[in-house]
Formats: sequence, structure tokens, C-alpha cells
Amino acid sequence: MSMQDLSTLRAMHVIPGSPTRAARHLLSISDLDPGEITEVLDAALTLKAGSPAWIGRAGPLARKHVALLFDKPSLRTRVSFEVGIARLGGATTTLSAVDVGLGSRESYADIARTLSRYVDAIVIRMHSHAGLVELAAAAEVPVVNALTELEHPCQALADLLTLREHLGVLRGRQLVFLGDGNNVCHSLLLGGAAVGLHVRVATPAGYEPAPDIVAEAALLGRRSGATIEVVHDPAAAVAGADAVYTDVWASMGSEHEVAERRRAFAAFQVNAELLHGAPDALVMHCLPAHRGEEISAGVIDGPTSVVFDQAENRMHAQQALLLHLLRSRRVSLAPAEPTPLRSALAGVAALRP
Ligand code: CP
Ligand code: NVA
Repeated sequence: MSMQDLSTLRAMHVIPGSPTRAARHLLSISDLDPGEITEVLDAALTLKAGSPAWIGRAGPLARKHVALLFDKPSLRTRVSFEVGIARLGGATTTLSAVDVGLGSRESYADIARTLSRYVDAIVIRMHSHAGLVELAAAAEVPVVNALTELEHPCQALADLLTLREHLGVLRGRQLVFLGDGNNVCHSLLLGGAAVGLHVRVATPAGYEPAPDIVAEAALLGRRSGATIEVVHDPAAAVAGADAVYTDVWASMGSEHEVAERRRAFAAFQVNAELLHGAPDALVMHCLPAHRGEEISAGVIDGPTSVVFDQAENRMHAQQALLLHLLRSRRVSLAPAEPTPLRSALAGVAALRP
């Protein structure tokens, strides 16, 4: 299935239903409007500052149980969801694809309908974005995309949070993504454009992000003032960057292409020489990283690297996201009203010393 087909399927995921029953999903970062992204980032900063730990106590996720289902390896996503939910008083059940026979034992729809009778949200990492759309369409509780071949929206939320912490504002800043136009790149394009962050992507020819994702990002950018560019010269691309981001050249599922990708991406390694054009730029990577391939050890372990802030911020961003999805309904609240997320956060403030 082509990226084009996948993006079309993604656009179809909105579930018809009454505004009071329909669950809010996060299959794409675009499922949050720009105001919601900002609200989730604000809430994540509050949660981070308060360092709440309601484990075993009546926190904002008390009596909430979340199923985490992984069809690919994970360190950050799994642990940040498990710990983040526990610290808000909730509970998790983590399953592998083998545990449930994902894709072989029963339909995605039946898995979603069954889990919806037990848990309050489903967080799932799977190869197929089309499969995720199918599963979410049958779910009666929020479904969160924990990475598919098309998008990694939780990573983008943590990355925007990290940029907010280090740059102060996102609007008008320049993010440069070097390497493969992959899932991480897609979510950064859409999330960045929504909040006014200029995003320039530099890839080898043939590895560009999906055209309809770029078009959607450009549309969001026209509303927010962000510019979206896709170019092929890595050295020219980093000039003027506030942050330079890279990811593995061969994502999970593309490992068989490692040799040809190493050749195609050789000029796109983020190293000291490439960063001459942007010596103060923040260095970002979603991790796991391959030192000596997409990024040099000196750069990822250097003074401008924020990769472990990104990793930590997965937890804070996802806590805020879950509070938002579990408490919000499809009908949007007027901006002046105290939102459920803001009300929940009042408890965080109360925990501060
Ligand atoms: N960045 C990220 O999603 O890491 P994991 O694959 O370890 O979850
Ligand atoms: N693009 C990478 C991200 C890993 C967090 C992958 O899909 O494997």
C-alpha cells in the first residue's frame, strides 16, 4: 500500500456518532487542532513542574485503566506511558502482538470492541496505519497511535514540548529535519505547521515525505504563518536552523533496506561539519539512535543535544494528552470556559510544595 493510500485512509478515520458517545482518538497529530496542541503542551509543562505522583492515590487517572499494545519493539513509548499513567493514579495492561495474535487471531474490530469493555483507552503501536484506522473505527474508547508506518504523533507532542522549553516560543522558529521522510517527519510537519513552526525537510531524492502530508502541512502553515519546505541539499537546509532533527535511516519494518539506505543517506549524517551552518542549533533525535550513521557521536552527545529531554517529555506530553482525550468530548468547549483538562490540573498545582 502506498503512502498516498495510507494518508487517504487516515483522513477517513473520523467516526460518526453522537457527540456524547464518540471517543476522541489520536491517530494523527492533526486530530488535535492548534488550540488543543497548545493546551496539551501547557498542561504537560504544568505536570512536569508539579512532578505529581498519585501512585495508589486518587489522582486524575484514578480508576482509569489503559491497554498498551505493541506490535514493534519499544523502550520510551512503553515505559513513558506505563510510568506516566501510574503517576496519575491509573493502571495499565501491556500486551505484545503475540499475546493477542494481532492480525491473525481475530479482527482488529473485535479486538477494539473487546478492549473497549475493559479499559478506558487503547494505546497501540502497529505497522499498518490502515489497521489502526480499522481498529479505531470500532473502538468505543480513545485510541492513541503509539507509532505506525505513517505517523508518530506522541513523539511530535514531546518534541514540540522540548522546543517550547528550549526556545520559549514555537511560532516563527525554524526546525530542519534531515534524513528519511518517515513517520516522525510526517508528524513533525503536521504538528509544527499547526502551531506556526517553520519546518524544512531535507531528504535524498526518492525518500521525501508523503505528498499529501506535505500538502496538509502547507495548508496548516498558511493558517499559522509557518512555511513548509522539502529540499535535497543537507548543508543548505541547516542554514538558519533553530533545531536540527534526525531519525534512523531505516525505520522498523525497513531493516532489509539498510545497505541501500546507508548509501543513499550518507551525505545526510548530522555531524559537526554539517552543523557549521547552524552551530547553536538544538540537536534532536527521537531515539533509538545509531551513532556513526544518521548522527555522529560527538553531536548527539554534545552540548546542544536535547535528545534525553525529548525522551523525558514523552511522559509529560502523554499524561497531558490522555487527560485531554479522556475528559474531552467531540463537541468543543468555548475558549472562555474552564476546560476539563484545566480543572484536572488544578489538582497538580495543589500537590506542589
Ligand atoms: N522514540 C520512540 O518512540 O522510542 P521507542 O521506539 O523506544 O518507544
Ligand atoms: N522512524 C522510526 C522511529 C522509531 C521511534 C521507526 O519507525 O522505526
